[in-house]
Amino acid sequence: MFEDLRFPVIAAPMAGGPTTPELVAAVTAAGGFGFLAGGYLSADALADRIAKTAELTGEPFGVNLFVPGGAAEADLGGHIERWRAEAERYGVEPGEPRWDDDAYTAKLEVVLERKVPVVSFTFGVPSPEDVGRLHANGSEVAVTVTSPEEAERAIAVGADALVLQGFEAGAHRGLFADEPEAEGGGPQYGVLSLLRLVSARTDLPLVATGGLVHGADIAAVLAAGAVAAQLGTAFLRADEAGTQPAHRLALADGGRPTAFTRVFSGRPARSLVNRAVTDFSATAPSAYPEVNNLTKPIRAAAGKAGDAEIMSLYAGQTYELAGSGPAASIVERLQAEAREAATRLSRLR
Ligand SMILES: Cc1cc2nc3c(=O)[nH]c(=O)nc-3n(C[C@H](O)[C@H](O)[C@H](O)COP(=O)(O)O)c2cc1C
Repeated sequence: MFEDLRFPVIAAPMAGGPTTPELVAAVTAAGGFGFLAGGYLSADALADRIAKTAELTGEPFGVNLFVPGGAAEADLGGHIERWRAEAERYGVEPGEPRWDDDAYTAKLEVVLERKVPVVSFTFGVPSPEDVGRLHANGSEVAVTVTSPEEAERAIAVGADALVLQGFEAGAHRGLFADEPEAEGGGPQYGVLSLLRLVSARTDLPLVATGGLVHGADIAAVLAAGAVAAQLGTAFLRADEAGTQPAHRLALADGGRPTAFTRVFSGRPARSLVNRAVTDFSATAPSAYPEVNNLTKPIRAAAGKAGDAEIMSLYAGQTYELAGSGPAASIVERLQAEAREAATRLSRLR
């Protein structure tokens, strides 16, 4: 998987708007690979996006799905009150803080029906039965992991490739389980450490992701044994991305640090620090997707109003170096930088 790409760069799935069929098609046309983000979408909306992407590109592309977890045990009371005040400011009702399975089963049927060539899973492992169905249908299975232990669980269910997500990564950590008491929700491995540790355990193809924003970063992870590099934030300001204007502006302005927060969704995610992160973190429980459903209408209203202090401004640690313009030009730049890095490496004998 991914060995045949003209340039081994993958546009990461970015749920919540940034990933569009146009972005996936543009990165594919430039020689890379792209994942559609299935997270938060209805099964019908995912089917539409798959159809649209297939119209735009004759090349293979992937789909990412969120594996559902259990219902929250945490008390959401204080956090609901915090967000209620913001909802009132915008004249919207907070969402219902309910558990859902993100229409996982229905979306799995969609990717099976559409024979999507690569299906990646985040927040857990698919069942061995579902992996078997995908394999029988001609699809390959990738699983996002954040630690060697998660890698072993993904290998055990029959994954064909692992997406190794370092703590540098933008947005949600792919943690199988969020440990409420642990900083960042669980062990924190940088992308190179994870690549080294997992390479020692398996020969499966490994995709590296997290904080990779320059072609030299791609060269670095390839040198360390990855088959491809998956970049999210590097494409957030691409012309074809569906990133909200206020999010784009905050990324372009730079200056804000990033931090892990459960404020917006109830799961640790890396975001630019804004007022919501600073003021609400103390009351943010480990309760995904309940908190995500609670804050959704409020975040949408803040986004519409261009209020960067209340929206989720998900981004990786190196966001300040991500550029803008057509996705093809971003890929072209990454490729030139990677070649330059390879030339520098050729000094090693
Ligand atoms: C806005 C945003 C949304 C994301 N949504 C998803 C998602 O739906 N599924 C997923 O597996 N990863 C998601 N990610 C994480 C990426 O797959 C990847 O791990 C991350 O972007 C890598 O770090 P980088 O942003 O520094 O490149 C998202 C990342 C961002 C920035």
